[in-house]
Amino acid sequence: MSAILEIRDISIAFAGLRALDGVSLAVEQGQIFGLIGPNGAGKSTLLNCVSRLYPPSGGEILYHGSSLLRRQVHELPSLGIRRTFQNLELFRDASVRENIQLGAAFRFRTNVLADLLCLGPSRRGQGAAARRADVLLDQLGLAEHADTPVAALPYGIQKSVELARALASEPRLLLLDEPAAGMNPEESRRVGETVRSLRDTHGITIVLVEHDMRLVMSICERIAVLDHGEMICEGTPDEVRGDPAVIAAYLGEEAEDA
Ligand SMILES: Nc1ncnc2c1ncn2[C@@H]1O[C@H](COP(=O)(O)OP(=O)(O)O)[C@@H](O)[C@H]1O
Ligand SMILES: [Mg+2]
Repeated sequence: MSAILEIRDISIAFAGLRALDGVSLAVEQGQIFGLIGPNGAGKSTLLNCVSRLYPPSGGEILYHGSSLLRRQVHELPSLGIRRTFQNLELFRDASVRENIQLGAAFRFRTNVLADLLCLGPSRRGQGAAARRADVLLDQLGLAEHADTPVAALPYGIQKSVELARALASEPRLLLLDEPAAGMNPEESRRVGETVRSLRDTHGITIVLVEHDMRLVMSICERIAVLDHGEMICEGTPDEVRGDPAVIAAYLGEEAEDA
């Protein structure tokens, strides 16, 4: 098997705090790869490094064997890389359908100005984007909310909208930052099913940051555990579940919360 994403010895610090300290991992093509760890472990920071929002101070990130660090953030969609954000980045006043179509706009080469002028190629693009949005509305159980402004919907449903928007561009590598946060068990189960079917039917590779352990353990083939910026364990769900360092890290988090 060949790695689609390889992270080698990545470090980054904020005002002296080491958010990532020499983290390395490899994600195989078509894998569902879980990234877990207590709050503040560095999970979102790692996704931010891969998606080129944060520049690591050292290390390398390879995508299909070539350096992502030489790419700009805006180049990532054309490489097939998409992500969602822990704290939702949606157009809050736009409807669910509009948000999803905007995600598809890149893929189907819709151009906002051309749309306003009703020019030919763009109208065709919009047709394809609209059809793609319809499929995703159904798949994620969002059809009944299609015309509702995002801001009027509960948080768990907004998370589904963000997932649908990321999927609209038909990515090859999808980075999900806590897609099931704020969801009820039924919504969370649906996210799990969607992620699994994306991989099974489209071969999409997924990096999943998630606190819902049931979800992570049920769909990930491999899991990496971060704690205070360091990777403390990497393995199958069973290996991770039984690892003393992992158990200690989560018990530590409970103690901090208490
Ligand atoms: N932009 C930033 N500026 C300053 N500190 C940051 C920034 N992003 C993350 N951090 C810090 O880095 C650490 C890891 O954060 P984060 O990656 O968000 O953790 P996680 O997603 O695992 O909960 C935390 O201590 C956090 O406060
Ligand atoms: Mg986070």
